[in-house]
Amino acid sequence: MRTTMKSYLSRRQHILDTIGKDGVAILFAAPEQRRSNDTEFPFRQDSYFHYLSGFPEPEAVIVLDGAAQTSTLYCRDKDALDETWHGFRYGAEAAQTEFGFDAAYSINQWREHIEDAILNKRQLYALWGLYPEQDAILMQHWHHVQQSAGQRALAEYSRAPDALVDLSTLLNPMRLIKDADELIMLREAGRISALAHIRAMQHTHPGMKEFQIEAEILHEFMWHGARYPAYNSIVAGGKNACCLHYVDNKDTLQNGDLLLIDAGAEYQLYAGDITRTLPVNGTFSPVQKDVYEVVLAANEASIAAVKPGMNWADIHNIALRILVQGLIDFKLLKGSVDGNIESRAYSRFYMHGLGHWVGLDVHDVGGRWHEGKPVLLQAGMCTTIEPGLYINADDDIPAAFHNIGIRIEDNVAVTANGCENYTASAPKSVNDIQALMRG
Ligand code: GLY
Ligand code: MN
Ligand code: MN
Repeated sequence: MRTTMKSYLSRRQHILDTIGKDGVAILFAAPEQRRSNDTEFPFRQDSYFHYLSGFPEPEAVIVLDGAAQTSTLYCRDKDALDETWHGFRYGAEAAQTEFGFDAAYSINQWREHIEDAILNKRQLYALWGLYPEQDAILMQHWHHVQQSAGQRALAEYSRAPDALVDLSTLLNPMRLIKDADELIMLREAGRISALAHIRAMQHTHPGMKEFQIEAEILHEFMWHGARYPAYNSIVAGGKNACCLHYVDNKDTLQNGDLLLIDAGAEYQLYAGDITRTLPVNGTFSPVQKDVYEVVLAANEASIAAVKPGMNWADIHNIALRILVQGLIDFKLLKGSVDGNIESRAYSRFYMHGLGHWVGLDVHDVGGRWHEGKPVLLQAGMCTTIEPGLYINADDDIPAAFHNIGIRIEDNVAVTANGCENYTASAPKSVNDIQALMRG
């Protein structure tokens, strides 16, 4: 499974069309990250760079020239010795053909070429702020062009760009609406992530360590070709579930506790992001079940509301009202649903949003607001839906509720008239989870 060349070409063409003859855009590959001495962290390509190229190597630059309407790649040279130690590199010639660029050169040449590319353009688009070291180099070249252009007699024909524009303002709206190739990747990331949650449910028993469950999850990801998780897996037994980003995963699972697992595979750079909550011993206690059913109702009602034209704030409120009503029914909150929403008293038990865009990044780009208004859902947008309730062992809380932390998270893609849940194959009803855990 691979994103087709056509998608990368059409995304680049869209940028070339948008920046027009007065614009030039430049993007940098992600830098390698040193772990220690001569050992690196696994390389992960920059999401924007990948979105426009699929090119998987570090030390690469893309230049999109709006006047010439060309896309050019600069990449590492072939190097037999280095490839013996560190693996295959495309080199410019193969990269040009394989990734459909109009031209490709050695990475050692981009600084020789860049001043010609930016001269006489009005706008220089880049992902300013993403890689500050590259910003500085680019500014150096802009400055040089600006200085030397100013010294030329025909100044009106020889100018440096007078606008440095954030390229993410063009790329984020594109990335917000996933194309057909991206939906295939996200569906697969969801499917693999769901398999991992199923495996985790099958392996969970009292006395196990949280990291042993994490091992089962990573096993399933890798086994299906997702080498890395999309984010650090949260495997949180008992009170640890009330810490939203608990990733220590080092405690022993206790009989009678719940286990919250928030784990998603990264497949071909696309993220899955699933949370399931299960009873460590395979059976929910009556109180755990009651709280679970409230969170599940919020999850299901908000997924049912996802369709084109809906606004995210309304979907958020559907879930919020169900959660707050539940907290009132449990006598954990006093007063009315509206009153508690107004005062935000619920935030003691539900302190995060209902979801986020998911795509090349687990917390994907795009924003929820546009010109002061909530973004309306459109086909191709992909969001998580992840209501939760987190009840700490505080003195004013009845003991039966202590350390109940529940989140139920799915990944849904907006379709023409509703949505498709890419993570539906991970069981989430009380009966389905208990049946799976009984084996
Ligand atoms: N796994 C991170 C999140 O759910 O936002
Ligand atoms: Mn999430
Ligand atoms: Mn998550």
